[in-house]
Amino acid sequence: MSDGVNDAQSVSAALYERALEVLPGGVSRNTVLRKPHPLYADHASGCRVTDVEGVERIDFANNMASLIHGHAHPAIVQAVTEQLKAGTAFTLATEVEIRFAEHLVGRSDRFEKVRFVNSGTEAVMGMLKAARAFTGRHKIAKIEGAYHGLYDYAEISQTAKPSNWGDETNPVAVPVAYGTPPGVLMDVVVIPFNDPERAIAILDRHKGELAGILLDLMPHRVGLIPASGEFMAALSDWTDEDGSLLLLDEIITFRSEYGGAQEWYDVRADLTAMGKLIGGGFPVGAIAGRAEIMDVMNPLVETVRFPHSGTFSANPVTMTAGLTAMELYDRQAVARVNQLARRAIVGIEDAIRATGVAACVTGRGSMFRVHLKANPPSNYREAFVTADESGRLKVLLDHLFDAGFLMINTCSATISTAMGESEIDAIVDAMAEGFAKIR
Ligand SMILES: Cc1ncc(COP(=O)(O)O)c(C=O)c1O
Repeated sequence: MSDGVNDAQSVSAALYERALEVLPGGVSRNTVLRKPHPLYADHASGCRVTDVEGVERIDFANNMASLIHGHAHPAIVQAVTEQLKAGTAFTLATEVEIRFAEHLVGRSDRFEKVRFVNSGTEAVMGMLKAARAFTGRHKIAKIEGAYHGLYDYAEISQTAKPSNWGDETNPVAVPVAYGTPPGVLMDVVVIPFNDPERAIAILDRHKGELAGILLDLMPHRVGLIPASGEFMAALSDWTDEDGSLLLLDEIITFRSEYGGAQEWYDVRADLTAMGKLIGGGFPVGAIAGRAEIMDVMNPLVETVRFPHSGTFSANPVTMTAGLTAMELYDRQAVARVNQLARRAIVGIEDAIRATGVAACVTGRGSMFRVHLKANPPSNYREAFVTADESGRLKVLLDHLFDAGFLMINTCSATISTAMGESEIDAIVDAMAEGFAKIR
């Protein structure tokens, strides 16, 4: 199969030449970069994407876990097409934003009010600002290594590495972007994942200072391991006692259960940020949670503690696509994709045993991640990809790509409702062949 990647004459290579002239690094988002050049999509349907060279692949990346029904689902295409003809954005409210908010509030008893925004980054930023406005405190705590988008405060320590992450009893707040204001570093408390003892010891040094703890329940870059019940109980008790808020980033994990991965725990989130799948393939974000907190954005009160707006927030195209997608993603659909992911995890574990490769697979709900480590990591430092692992991971990812599979570049995969057992069994077989190559 000619994949166009090593072919200097390919359509993709020619497009990339042009892109390099006008886009930094030739891309608009670093995630699509591949060497020697990115691949360019032509069209897609269901779980299959065809690139501009005419090569079709099964899509386990799903636009970074955002396409729960795969591509061009007929019901979403039809609903959006009708909305396009009726107008795409107004300086007026629309009924569909109410219907979508009603739908989301109906999915979880932890959601009393909702605000829509345009990305996950914006949802996390809005959630942190709401928490500050409600508590009157400005510091936040976050998990070392966890990705929450681009907001200065939320991105701290996302790319920490052995040379700068410091002692594990006191992780350093490491900036991602050059020029991050020093004040941001002072206002972010970094805690280790799934280590209640160390995390609480760190938090105790900041009693009465934090607006909240920002947390992804299964942070992808921390290893795609679910938060333990013990960890969640410890954080929840700590915030209750401290008067700070539990702030969940369910931008990816909302796909895991009908009401999000928070259903796995016996704790109540104060606010939840959502994004990705709830946009039905369009840019989206949402903040949901306790009405009392969400009311910091209420423009009807005399002093609005967190004035919030956005030109394209709750635009009717996104609302229509999102509502249609989420109505289709009912309890039965959630159970089905979760069961397919389980099948993949069991199959890959069998392949690991059969090939004797030093690897393991983590994940829950409808996602999994393959690590080239003998044992599953339990935090960011253990999940950190070494130079040796990185070289072998590249061989594995290239093998999967050549075999016709699109993966998230950490060797993670997300299942869509457009998949069936045959796609799962195909990736398990390809993974087994890949393990044999890197063993
Ligand atoms: C857990 C999590 N939070 C926040 C974001 C940021 O979302 P967006 O890319 O829509 O800004 C992402 C994106 O990958 C994410 O995975």
